[in-house]
Amino acid sequence: MNIVITGATKGIGKAIAEAFAEDKQGHTFYLCARNETSLQVIGKELQGRFPRTNIFTRVCDMSERESVAAFAAWILQAADKIDVLVNNAGIFIPGSVEQEEEGSLEKMMAVNLFGSYHLTRALIPVMKKNNSGHIFNICSIASLKAYSNGGAYSISKFAFYGFSQNLREEMKPYGIKVTSVLPGAVLTDSWSGFDNSSKRIMEASDIAKLVYAASFLSPQACVEEILVRPQLGDL
Ligand SMILES: NC(=O)c1ccc[n+]([C@@H]2O[C@H](COP(=O)([O-])OP(=O)(O)OC[C@H]3O[C@@H](n4cnc5c(N)ncnc54)[C@H](OP(=O)(O)O)[C@@H]3O)[C@@H](O)[C@H]2O)c1
Repeated sequence: MNIVITGATKGIGKAIAEAFAEDKQGHTFYLCARNETSLQVIGKELQGRFPRTNIFTRVCDMSERESVAAFAAWILQAADKIDVLVNNAGIFIPGSVEQEEEGSLEKMMAVNLFGSYHLTRALIPVMKKNNSGHIFNICSIASLKAYSNGGAYSISKFAFYGFSQNLREEMKPYGIKVTSVLPGAVLTDSWSGFDNSSKRIMEASDIAKLVYAASFLSPQACVEEILVRPQLGDL
């Protein structure tokens, strides 16, 4: 399979890459993030651990239109089919509508919504041509419900979930599946400093296992939503 994952150098994006890379049949990966060194490290690491895979990496800032266009063009010159697209790259800056820093909304909308919107639009034609493909949008429980200190993050994630639901409706006739992934707290750098010795919050691999499983159903079955929370509920 040809698999595109944004924000794949750590956290949930990296865990999803690992889950697919473990497959016996080697998949081809197109991964991006902003930091070139981290991309080189992850590329080498995955290629070394999973020799059947082909790992291609490219710097892309999902908040920049031209960067997203260049990433899409780079994928399309190499791949004539996209089997899985994971719109994962996202940033979390906590704050309240009143108190957060000026520009927080624009910054988070740019990464958490606009980048995925533009990348998806660029890749849909090749999926349509093949009458197949599966798009996973990594939303959040903050897409469903307001939290104190949610601020612009929550607004951007509500919007991204709206995008995902619209896309699901639109892609139905084309054999393209769309899954909205709505996780609660997951132990990644977004939670750096959090003491998880009591296993209060989820592992990135929990989300990866669900995404992986959802991608292997029959063509006529689409998991529309994956809603997963810590066993003890939200923090
Ligand atoms: N962790 C949670 O509790 C949680 C819960 C629900 C939903 N989510 C969502 O899950 C997704 C992944 O979160 P995470 O916690 O795994 O994050 P993370 O550990 O901070 O990793 C984020 C990844 O995205 C990349 N990235 C950040 N900004 C980018 C940009 N502008 N362009 C391209 N790549 C970018 C980062 O690499 P660079 O910095 O090098 O670009 C990194 O690879 C996000 O959409 C987040 O909102 C997370």
